[in-house]
Amino acid sequence: MPVDLSNGKPLAWDSAKLDADTKAMLDNLQPNILQAHVRENMSLLLVHFGDGPDGRRFLRSLVPLMKSARKHLEEVRDFNRAKKPGTPYVGVGISKIGYLKLGDSTSKFTDNAFKSGMKRRKDTLSDPAVGAWEKHYQEEIHAIVLIGDATPEPVAATRERVLALLPKTAKIVGEEKGEGLRDAQGRGIEHFGYVDGRSQPLFLADQVAAESGTNWNPFFPLSHVLVPDPLAPHPSRHFGSYLVLRKLEQNVRAFREAEETLADALGLKGDDRPLAGAMLVGRFRNGTPLRLHGKPSSEGHPVQNDFSYRDDPGAKCPVSAHIRKANPRDSRDGGLERALGVMMARRGQTYGRRTDKPWDDAPATTRPTGGVGLLFMAFNSSLQGQFEFTQQTWADNADFPAGDTGHDPVIGQGKRDVKVRYPTAWGSAKLSAPQRQVPQTVTMKGGEYFFMPSLAYLKSL
Ligand code: HEM
Repeated sequence: MPVDLSNGKPLAWDSAKLDADTKAMLDNLQPNILQAHVRENMSLLLVHFGDGPDGRRFLRSLVPLMKSARKHLEEVRDFNRAKKPGTPYVGVGISKIGYLKLGDSTSKFTDNAFKSGMKRRKDTLSDPAVGAWEKHYQEEIHAIVLIGDATPEPVAATRERVLALLPKTAKIVGEEKGEGLRDAQGRGIEHFGYVDGRSQPLFLADQVAAESGTNWNPFFPLSHVLVPDPLAPHPSRHFGSYLVLRKLEQNVRAFREAEETLADALGLKGDDRPLAGAMLVGRFRNGTPLRLHGKPSSEGHPVQNDFSYRDDPGAKCPVSAHIRKANPRDSRDGGLERALGVMMARRGQTYGRRTDKPWDDAPATTRPTGGVGLLFMAFNSSLQGQFEFTQQTWADNADFPAGDTGHDPVIGQGKRDVKVRYPTAWGSAKLSAPQRQVPQTVTMKGGEYFFMPSLAYLKSL
């Protein structure tokens, strides 16, 4: 039975009743797409091939270091049951120019963003000029090798094994190191100090069962992340996913100053001051959603995700908040993000070391202005319809979801000339006087689009 990507039920990946095609799909799909792989420590190798046949041999030689999605899911299950540690993640992505260098035709790929490459999409995304990107992103990047694990040692050892396989005709044009950042309670946070990676589209039955709710349905069909691998031996059983990688530098000091300025402008005092930052992000630093609470809910509480904005015109969570712009959760037309198929699987990791405590209230002047940020990564079935749509049509659009909403305060790019209004208190329909938008504090430093092919394709090289 052909794999049904639009199946309205979550995939019971370990069911004995799984059909042969779905089994083949799981045995040939790369991990980290359907379920996040542990990647507290990461090395991202950006590769340039000087010679196509050498490049093909190199990619094929990586297969023994890789595992399938099914193997990964089994490892997760064994870890949850018996704390049995898993193996490192090795993922491979190939860019459009990478495929051409390898001698493959890209005519069967349908995604226009992928076929253009990120450099040629910079105007669509209001990205900085390519000449302002970090040097290695200005070069032709043919492939990416992602290595990740819970601790640095297996990542370092696997990285050595990958480098030992690299042919003389290929070079590593750049490398990114991802390192998880955690708050005092051990929750994963990003550099502005907020819990991140909480809200995700879920595809698998066990994941959905663990997060059932009444207000927000986290289940999304496989069609959000999988597409047939057009160059695999059997595209109807061999699937892949488009990866977006963007290095996003965070000016933490400027963001903290913006939080303080907004708190002053709204007259927030004492314990109410964190409301300003929460209005920008949509959650308090500890992950408490503003839609549900006007103060950070008690520590140790699992980070809540069961909410929609259906009955909140913006009095609790401003419509301009990052998480509301990036996922409007049923705000219009009975679920825009679902109807349009926009939700992508975010799999990023923070980069850059800190000596301060990102979650505390130390003065803004003690915060870094650069050198730290997010290696934003996400899997998509359509880069144009998901990542680019979110960035361009929602985050960068001051009129989404309604006129004069303003840019996404965290990731919006482009001129922030519209003035915006915020609720004067949590839950208050009374709005503040129009305020200048907070300045842009996230800067794109480079990136690329890749396709994560099936293992069957890599073996066929
Ligand atoms: C959620 C921060 C870049 C899309 C979040 C959350 C934080 C955050 C703190 C809340 C945690 C959660 O709900 O999972 C950041 C920072 C970024 C960044 C600091 C850059 C440095 C991006 C980009 C996109 C994006 C580039 C897409 C274009 C989303 C989405 C959610 C989210 C879709 C989940 C919203 C929801 O479902 O409620 N982000 N983010 N983020 N972010 Fe970002």
